[in-house]
This record gives sequence, C-alpha cells and structure tokens, in this order.
Amino acid sequence: MSCLPLGLNQIEIQRGLTTSSTAIFVPFTTQELFQNGKEALYYGINALSNNLIMVDRKLLKNPNGLILGTPGSGKSFSAKREIANCFLLTNDDVIICDPEAEYAPLVERLHGQVIKISPTSTNYINPMDLNLDYSDDESPLSLKSDFILSLCELIVGGKDGLQPVQKTIIDRCVRLVYQTYLNDPRPENMPILEDLYNLLRSQEEKEAQYIATALEIYVTGSLNVFNHQSNVDINNRIVCYDIKELGKQLKKIGMLVVQDQVWNRVTINRAAHKSTRYYIDEMHLLLKEEQTAAYTVEIWKRFRKWGGIPTGITQNVKDLLSSREVENIFENSDFVYMLNQAGGDRQILAKQLGISTHQLSYVTHSGEGEGLLFYGSTILPFVDHFPKSTELYRIMTTKPQELKKKEDE
Ligand SMILES: Nc1ncnc2c1ncn2[C@@H]1O[C@H](COP(=O)(O)OP(=O)(O)OP(=O)(O)O)[C@@H](O)[C@H]1O
Ligand SMILES: [Mg+2]
Repeated sequence: MSCLPLGLNQIEIQRGLTTSSTAIFVPFTTQELFQNGKEALYYGINALSNNLIMVDRKLLKNPNGLILGTPGSGKSFSAKREIANCFLLTNDDVIICDPEAEYAPLVERLHGQVIKISPTSTNYINPMDLNLDYSDDESPLSLKSDFILSLCELIVGGKDGLQPVQKTIIDRCVRLVYQTYLNDPRPENMPILEDLYNLLRSQEEKEAQYIATALEIYVTGSLNVFNHQSNVDINNRIVCYDIKELGKQLKKIGMLVVQDQVWNRVTINRAAHKSTRYYIDEMHLLLKEEQTAAYTVEIWKRFRKWGGIPTGITQNVKDLLSSREVENIFENSDFVYMLNQAGGDRQILAKQLGISTHQLSYVTHSGEGEGLLFYGSTILPFVDHFPKSTELYRIMTTKPQELKKKEDE
C-alpha cells in the first residue's frame, strides 16, 4: 500500500538521505545540448535522455568541424542532413567538394549548381582566376602566387617539394602573367595556365624549362582540363564541385583548385556579412600531399575570421595526425561528429580527446548514424535514425541497392 501512488505511508520510519543515496533515486546524470537560437540545427537525439540535440555551430569559439567514421557509418549522410537543414534554416552559402559524385541529387533538388569537372566535361574553372578583392589586408597577387606555388608543387614537386630557385622563378612569372589583366581588368584578359607556361618557357634558367615541361601535360597534353577560361555559374547558394571523374592524377589538383574557389567566395561573402559553409568529403586525399595539406590547415586556421565554416569528412583519423601541421586541424575543430570507429583509431581518439572507456562504447560497433558529438567541451552520445520513407532520405542515400530501386522507379 505504501508503494502505490496514493500518498499513504504506512511504514513508520523516516530518515534523512545523504547526497549520494539521494542520487540513486534521481538519475539526472545526462548532459543536454539544446540551443534555442534561430540557426540551431538538428544533429540527432541524445542517446541517454532521448531529447533533441539542437546546435548552432556559429556559437562555438571556432565553428570548424570534423565528421569521422568508418566507411558506411553515415559520414556523408550526416553532412547532407546538415546541408539540407542549413539550407532551410539559415542564409548561409554552401560549397561542397565531392570526390565521389554523391551530392548531386540533393544539390539539384535544392536548385543548387553542380559543377562537374572532368576531362570530358564542358564545365571549366580557370585556376588562374584572380579576384581583385581576394583579400583586403594582403595583396591579391601574393595570395594568388601562393596558390599557384601550391599548384606547381603538386605538379612538379617530387619528394622534397619545390626547390628555392624554382619557387622564385614561379613567383616571378606569376607576377608577370597578370600584368595585362591588372592594367585592364576585363574577364577576357584573365590569363590561363598556357600563358604561365609560355612565360616559363621564355625564362633563361634551366629550372624554368624543367617546370615548364612538367606543366606541359596540363597545358597542351592530355590533362588540360584546367587550361580554359571559367564558364560556370559559381554564384548559386549551393555549389557542388563534382570531381569524381578527374582521375587519380588530377584529383588532388582539382581539390586544390576548388579550395581556391572557396576562398574567392568566402571573400565575397565576408563583405556581405554572410557565412560560407564548406564541406570537404574524403579529406584524407588532401592531407596526403604536403602542399594541399598546408592549404587545408590554412583554411582551418583562418576561415573563422572570414565567416567560413569548414567541415572535413574522413575515414582515417591517422591521416589527421600524420604531422604537426595537420594536427592543427584536429586541435582547431570544436565540433566533432564521431561515428563508428575502427579499433586503432579509437585508441588514438581516446588519447587525443580524453574520452572515457564508457563514452568509447558509443563509437564501438555502433550502427549507422550513431556516435558521439563533441561540441566545445560538451560530449554527448547521439542517435539519428533518419526515416527511410522520406524523399529526403532517397536523395541522400548511397546504398547501392536503394539507388538501384530509385532508378527502377
Ligand atoms: N542517420 C542515418 N539514418 C539512416 N540511415 C543512415 C544514416 N546514416 C547513414 N545511413 C545509411 O548508411 C548509408 C551509408 O552512409 P554514408 O554514405 O554516409 O557512408 P560514409 O560514412 O560516407 O561512407 P564512405 O566512407 O564510404 O563514404 C547511407 O546511404 C544510408 O543509407
Ligand atoms: Mg561518404
């Protein structure tokens, strides 16, 4: 009778409870993450309390993010979900670097622009495009020269990268090649790679000839995708760069060119006080090469001040810790969406992020869309089982059998 909720206590014992014994009856040990702001987005359901997780990354000290997980754990899927939410709830621009050609259905459905860069496509971006308000505290040309050095490093550099003499020559030629355009900034005066190539050829040093020859395949040879004036609309609110068909050789260069385009957009948006979200899928491709890695680290260090919100998506945590430089990315990401992890990676992450064994269990053999969310100093286990009967699911899935079903319909 005393147990029933009748308010009738027939046991004549009363006693005080100490804090620890009270705690047994009051299991309020979960941490919540629910922000009310207009731009708070959905990231799943708290696995402990079943409350919604609503988060605005812009409120973090730095909004840089990482999505980590084994293949098929739902990395790209959660990126797409965030993109869809952010398209509907915020005014931010979205740029996607898509090496697997899987974002197109979503982007097209949101009336975005998919730019397909491949040796056979007729969509061209000119890596030499110079935006005169590229940066207001630095000269646009220096930044561009920096970018072209990275590009050449990828093309020419062997194991040790570019030699000092080679760097000097490239820098000299870059400054020369923009003379015409700077004097008369009309689009048709924009130089292309071929102009740079010709200038290199006309230099006296034998190093210049060496660089020119290395560049040749990208100018007159079979890899000349990037030797054209730009002809795509990069001003849409959602732009997806599909670089799947670039082939192994061109992929890294493609990613670098895309990053340069991203800087352009961030610069324009900064003046308009608008945020730019940048998603880099398969980021480990970029981290392997010293130059692209350096360029990515740069984004992680400086994007915030420009109103940029980068998100890196990768399977391999080890690639994120491959060098002191690259570790910066990891250390400068206040938002980490961690899905199922492979054994080795789990240990590394536990050490780096100070996760307890219990917390680790949420990323051990977890299902798709389940894991741990790091938001600043808050760590939460989340579950996000996206309803499969929705149109949104159908345009976001990458499961071969589900894609086949879609085609059959
Ligand atoms: N939150 C979720 N709810 C329901 N299904 C999901 C969820 N996340 C992922 N999936 C399913 O798992 C599939 C694989 O997810 P996704 O394409 O994101 O994998 P990935 O981690 O990006 O893998 P890869 O490293 O191979 O690119 C999706 O196509 C989808 O069907
Ligand atoms: Mg993926």
